[in-house]
Amino acid sequence: MSSIKRTTVKEALTCEVAMEQIEIQGWVRTRRDSKAFAFLEINDGSSLASIQVVADAGIPGYERIKEMSTGASVVVQGQLVESPGKQKWELQAQRLSLLGVAPDSYPLQKKGHSPEFLRSILHLRPRTNLFGAIFRTRSRMAAAVHDFFNSRDFIWVHTPIITGSDCEGAGEMFHVTTMDPLKEHGDYEKDFFGKSAQLTVSGQLEAECFACALGNVYTFGPTFRAENSNTTRHASEFWMIEPEMAFCNLEGDMDVAEDFIKHLVNTMLADESGDMEFFGKFVDKGLRARLEHVSQSRFIRCSYTEAIEIMQKSAVNFEYPPIWGMDLQTEHERFLTEKHFKTPVIVYNYPKDIKPFYMRLNDDGKTVTAMDVLVPGIGEIIGGSQREERLDVLEDNMRCSGLNMEDYSWYTDLRRFGTVPHAGFGLGFERLLMFVTGVQNIRDVLPFPRTPRNCG
Ligand code: 4AD
Ligand code: MG
Repeated sequence: MSSIKRTTVKEALTCEVAMEQIEIQGWVRTRRDSKAFAFLEINDGSSLASIQVVADAGIPGYERIKEMSTGASVVVQGQLVESPGKQKWELQAQRLSLLGVAPDSYPLQKKGHSPEFLRSILHLRPRTNLFGAIFRTRSRMAAAVHDFFNSRDFIWVHTPIITGSDCEGAGEMFHVTTMDPLKEHGDYEKDFFGKSAQLTVSGQLEAECFACALGNVYTFGPTFRAENSNTTRHASEFWMIEPEMAFCNLEGDMDVAEDFIKHLVNTMLADESGDMEFFGKFVDKGLRARLEHVSQSRFIRCSYTEAIEIMQKSAVNFEYPPIWGMDLQTEHERFLTEKHFKTPVIVYNYPKDIKPFYMRLNDDGKTVTAMDVLVPGIGEIIGGSQREERLDVLEDNMRCSGLNMEDYSWYTDLRRFGTVPHAGFGLGFERLLMFVTGVQNIRDVLPFPRTPRNCG
């Protein structure tokens, strides 16, 4: 028994020479019985593909074969042999053990459930082909994020999840409190931190402290927004990657953003696990062509003012007619990237009144050094800017935004002591995942999505 090698289905299916005496552990996807033997498809999540097991009647454990139904957990020992079917190998079983049965009430009996139904069984949906592929891809993409920054000597900073500052200034924050909302309210003095505390909407301000010490840094962590928008692109809890670079201007910021997206897209294109192919077949037929196009094209850079002019001159009937000074809506973003330029676009220099206090004021006094990266199928995937490094201008912006200067004295200190030009951006990790998989709803790339009135 000791010579039996435990392997994953992935290892077994991709090995070069037949492995003798292996053991796999997984869940039954399907079983077909004939008189003298049974076929079992076993999946253990290590790959999209399941392994076919051939079990002859009479081997140890076969007496419980009828209970090895879809969803049951099993251990199979046996020998890899060449398969006459599509796969290179199949497993000729020598011993079967049933670990856990899955009675008829198992909700994933048949294939082809709708994403809506699967959202009602979040705890089981990773067992489907689609969600297995999505969450393996999520893990691979997270590794690719770290690879990109590691290869450029960026330092990963763990910025806090509980914070006292509203980075985006939009007031869309969840409160963190130990007070009972039904009995006590209002007096933060008595609360856990002795002041009001929130879940972070962005690690940027803290990342700036570290950039102004360590040079190039990035954050990668959970982010929370209490915006009441029930769309397919907004979640209340999502993950964001925020690089912050000292001695960097808007152009340098755009260069890193473009390289970063291309690195992630190229990682996806190079995927040989079968997951990318699966998305191309069953989720979005145009996926590979679109990603290849993004990988090869130079991102168009277009000022906000030019973008407004382009849309005003176009014959399109927008729901919100474009006017200088307004924030771009998804319909505008998608027009620019999908219809007009047909390539990713970086829109920069937005009106200062629609952007947060920390962005650097341009010489025109009207616009700030903001930049948003827009991609086909999604719209905004990245938002960033060069930061205001001049103390007096920053303080003016903060006053205009109604911020309490004392609360942010640590932030303004960065400008008081050795200030430097610096810039950064935030990439929404789930928007990226939607982009590289073709999945249309943000709820389907989050393991346990949280959206307004939904925290299952
Ligand atoms: O444009 P945003 O709000 O920018 C910031 O938070 C800056 N502090 C980033 C920085 O400069 N360091 O958000 C950045 C990105 C968006 O482009 C989008 O991809 C994603 O975060 N995002 C969301 N993703 C899912 N659900 C939401 N509710 C999101 N809000 C923003
Ligand atoms: Mg934004």
